[in-house]
Amino acid sequence: MLDLTKFVQYFNTTSLADAITLPAELYSSDTAHKLDQLAIFSNSWQCVGHISQLINNGDTLLANIANRPIVIVKDHQGELKAFYNVCKHRAGPLVFESGNIKLFSCKYHGWTYKLDGQLRTAPEMSDTPNFNTCDIHLDKVNLDVWEGFIFVNLSESPIPLHKFFEGISNTIKPIDLTEMTFHHREEYNIACNWKTYMDNYLEGYHLPHVHPGLNKLLDYKSYSTELYDWYSYQHSPLENQASFYGEGSAHYFCIYPNLMLNILPGRCQVNIILPTSKTSCKVIFDYFYTNPDSDNAKKMIKEDLSFSDEVQDEDIMICEHVQKGLESGVYHQGRLCVKREQGVWHFQELLRKAYRASIPDK
Ligand code: FES
Ligand SMILES: [Fe+2]
Repeated sequence: MLDLTKFVQYFNTTSLADAITLPAELYSSDTAHKLDQLAIFSNSWQCVGHISQLINNGDTLLANIANRPIVIVKDHQGELKAFYNVCKHRAGPLVFESGNIKLFSCKYHGWTYKLDGQLRTAPEMSDTPNFNTCDIHLDKVNLDVWEGFIFVNLSESPIPLHKFFEGISNTIKPIDLTEMTFHHREEYNIACNWKTYMDNYLEGYHLPHVHPGLNKLLDYKSYSTELYDWYSYQHSPLENQASFYGEGSAHYFCIYPNLMLNILPGRCQVNIILPTSKTSCKVIFDYFYTNPDSDNAKKMIKEDLSFSDEVQDEDIMICEHVQKGLESGVYHQGRLCVKREQGVWHFQELLRKAYRASIPDK
């Protein structure tokens, strides 16, 4: 059981007018790291991939959420299912790497399971009393799909996935995410708590100071943030119509708890932020483009990627410095800017609510 006595006082609801940050200790302690795994990552929809990664029946995809190994499989009927990748015999692994299977076949003693999770065969177990294969079934994990993106949720009765994305497809019209194709993935290991990275993403306040190049492309004055139940939406008209991004708007969605969709005409960049320790995180960038093989797109993609790298380097630099500040022992909490940091407040309110819900006997 986690001892949260030190932290509970910080979990009370705040209003935007009085908004104050979560305390620094929540960004750097073992207890906070465990609390995040329990209250946030074991209890939310986590994006684990895209349907284009599972084309044929029997294709598998592996994921790890809150230290729990998960396997996603496209079954013989073409339906996606998710299970813990842990055998019911003695916890062996069912699948070592993504690929294609006819059955789950445990790598330890060879028990096999059908793709619906039912135990099928258990070698040499016939003399074992009170053992029936039909009693044994792999533990299922909730799975759902939004616009081609695959999500799993470790909680038993989650809020439906579509609630988290309500309105997004309409807002971005005429852009249609289902018309985009996966291009490639990049991963960054960053020396900051996952929330430090999230907080930074959630405000444009730092734009003129940290991203002078990006600031030229976006219109800082009309940069605005809207808050919804489960996401915040930052947007800005594209300032320089001659830029490689073309005409239209830049849409930045941050969906609770750790997913970002950065949508521009012809491209969507998906960011997933995963804690790797109390003071480090992994940031996954998946790039999707409309018609990536056309000549125009190839040129745009080249410029987009080098520019994204520049912006990402600037964000990493500032987040790693902020993390040092949070760990310094000389900072505790700070006030948020009502005009520019509503997204940070909104995210931290959702965290406070999830933290409160994880406290027993509240
Ligand atoms: S642990 Fe899977 S068969 Fe033994
Ligand atoms: Fe930034």
